[in-house]
Amino acid sequence: MNTHFLHQQAVVLQENGLQLQLSADTTAYFNYYWLRDNCSSSFDRTTRERSFDIFHLEQPPRAASAEVDGKDLVISWANETHVSRYPLIMLADYVSGKHRADPADLARKAWFSDHYPEIPRFSQPELLKDKQLVAEWIRAMIVEGLTIVTDMPDSDQGLTETVRLMGHVRPTFFGEYFDVKTHINPTNTAYTAKALELHTDTPAEEYAPGIQFLHCRANSVQGGLSIYSDGVAVANAFRTIDPEGFRLLSEIDIPFYCEHDDYDMRSRQRVIELDQHGEVSGLTISQHMADIFDLPQTLLDTYYPAFCRFGKMLQDDRFMMRFMMKAGECMVFDNHRIVHGRLAYSATSGDRYLRGCYADRAEMRSTYRALVSEGRFKA
Ligand SMILES: [Fe+2]
Repeated sequence: MNTHFLHQQAVVLQENGLQLQLSADTTAYFNYYWLRDNCSSSFDRTTRERSFDIFHLEQPPRAASAEVDGKDLVISWANETHVSRYPLIMLADYVSGKHRADPADLARKAWFSDHYPEIPRFSQPELLKDKQLVAEWIRAMIVEGLTIVTDMPDSDQGLTETVRLMGHVRPTFFGEYFDVKTHINPTNTAYTAKALELHTDTPAEEYAPGIQFLHCRANSVQGGLSIYSDGVAVANAFRTIDPEGFRLLSEIDIPFYCEHDDYDMRSRQRVIELDQHGEVSGLTISQHMADIFDLPQTLLDTYYPAFCRFGKMLQDDRFMMRFMMKAGECMVFDNHRIVHGRLAYSATSGDRYLRGCYADRAEMRSTYRALVSEGRFKA
């Protein structure tokens, strides 16, 4: 086996992989399994799936010979009759072991209590006929976490067709859609006329739904102002003023529940969620669905003050927007980032009816990538 590096040689075969001269001053190592698995012939152009199954190789892959031919690396494999060709530009993308670039991995932009006039608004009939506008809408959702779709039809179907622009309606344990109006025997504080403090929805689910749609069909009551805060803005400010509290809220799982005669949903979640970069990606918080904290009582000596300090910050005038939702508007927001609620209203003063549902965040990002990027198979 050739393990000697020969001066000026572009490819040096080693035991488990090869060294390749990618440019005048860059030599990179590539593993034989990785190379064999990712030969361009491994992928079916029609299904766009991997059709090669490396589990069926009888012996570990090893190059018999390899050379640079123009802008490609060409490998003849030992133990099988197969030649692979790789564009050097493709290999360069994988040299450092960095994650594949993701067009949907956009930096978040925090917003504050004065944000209401600036919330990105999109007209529903315009969205239905313009895919580039849909891409702009989803981009705003990823970056800011909150948008308003205007000019909504006054129909159940109008909500469904809006969701379908980014994905599918994602059911929760209480079904596909929900109606927020006063109920005679409410199973949820939302279905009363009482104030509803800032929260994220259904935290008791193992994976709470990602994107929430709230379609305002009627709103003529006195009171009932909507309230919203950006969890990213608040958690980042909290991180600065109380690093230890931030650590507790982002590392310790607390219990959430939702219980009635026929269901007993439970989960454990961290109040502050971090993404792969260590940045705040959002929150899970709900005072009416927080279970009795079953943590060591001495830990609660530090956890509770941090939890309360953070909960108060969510409602701070610096962060919390208040506004009246109008019939024909649909609030669309990231249920893992944006906390929402409403002030109390007078149930006899008029009609208030919101119809809501959810979509999946990963599916929304998938739709975005498909709209804006070439992917690996479109070109
Ligand atoms: Fe809610």
